Amino acid sequence: MKYRIITIDGPAGAGKTTISNLLANQLGCVYVDTGALYRGVAYEIKQQKIDWETDASLGKFLAGLELNFLMQKGNLVLISSGRDITPYIRTPEITMLASATSAKPQIRSALLDIQRNIAQSQDAVFEGRDMGTVVFPDAPFKFFLFADLSVRAKRRYEEMPEGKEDIQKVQQDMEKRDTNDSQRKEAPLRVASDAIKIDSSYLSIPEVVEKILKNIQKG
Ligand code: DC
Repeated sequence: MKYRIITIDGPAGAGKTTISNLLANQLGCVYVDTGALYRGVAYEIKQQKIDWETDASLGKFLAGLELNFLMQKGNLVLISSGRDITPYIRTPEITMLASATSAKPQIRSALLDIQRNIAQSQDAVFEGRDMGTVVFPDAPFKFFLFADLSVRAKRRYEEMPEGKEDIQKVQQDMEKRDTNDSQRKEAPLRVASDAIKIDSSYLSIPEVVEKILKNIQKG
C-alpha cells in the first residue's frame, strides 16, 4: 500500500463522520464517507424503481451505475451520472434502504473498486463498516468507534430538523440497522483484529480525535 490509509469503522451514530472529517483536516488528507456510496445506490434504486432482490435486474442496474465523489468548498459531494445527489441521501427512508440493500454481495463488490481506486492516489481517512476488515485489511491504522445505543440515538435525533421524528423511532431504526449491518453474511460490521477500539459514549469529539492522532503518531 503506497499511501497512508486510516480506517474508521463502527455503528451509526458513533461519531465516525465528524471525527473522520476532523482527522482528515488535521492530517491534510482526503476523507471518504463510504456510507454515502451505499446511500447513493439506495437512492438510485428507489428513483429508478429497481427490483433489487432479483439478481438479473440488480446486475443490469449496477452495470450502468456511475458514482463518484467530488470535493466542493471543503465538502464531500456524491455525484451519480453527473448529478449531485448529496441532498437526497440522508432521509430516514434512504437510510433504511441503504442498510437493507448493502447486504447484497453484488452491491458490495460493485462499490469495492470505487473505494480501492481512491486509495491508489492519495492518503485518506475511510469511514464505514468494513474498511478495516474487507476493503483495506492491510491499512496501517485501524480504529473502531462505538457508543451506547441510547447515546447514539440521542446524537442522531439532535442532528435532525426539529419535529421530524421522535427519539424512540430514531432509536428503533438505529437498533434495526445495527442488527442488519452486523448480522449480514457479506462483510458484516466487525472489529478488525488489529483495530483500536474507542468507546465514544462519554468522550467529546476533540478527545476522540486526540486519542486517534496519538495512536497514529505512536505508529
Ligand atoms: O455510515 P452510514 O450510516 O451513512 O451508512 C449507511 C448504510 O450503508 C449502513 O447502514 C450500512 C451501509 N454501509 C455498509 O454496509 N458498508 C460501509 N462501508 C458503509 C455503509
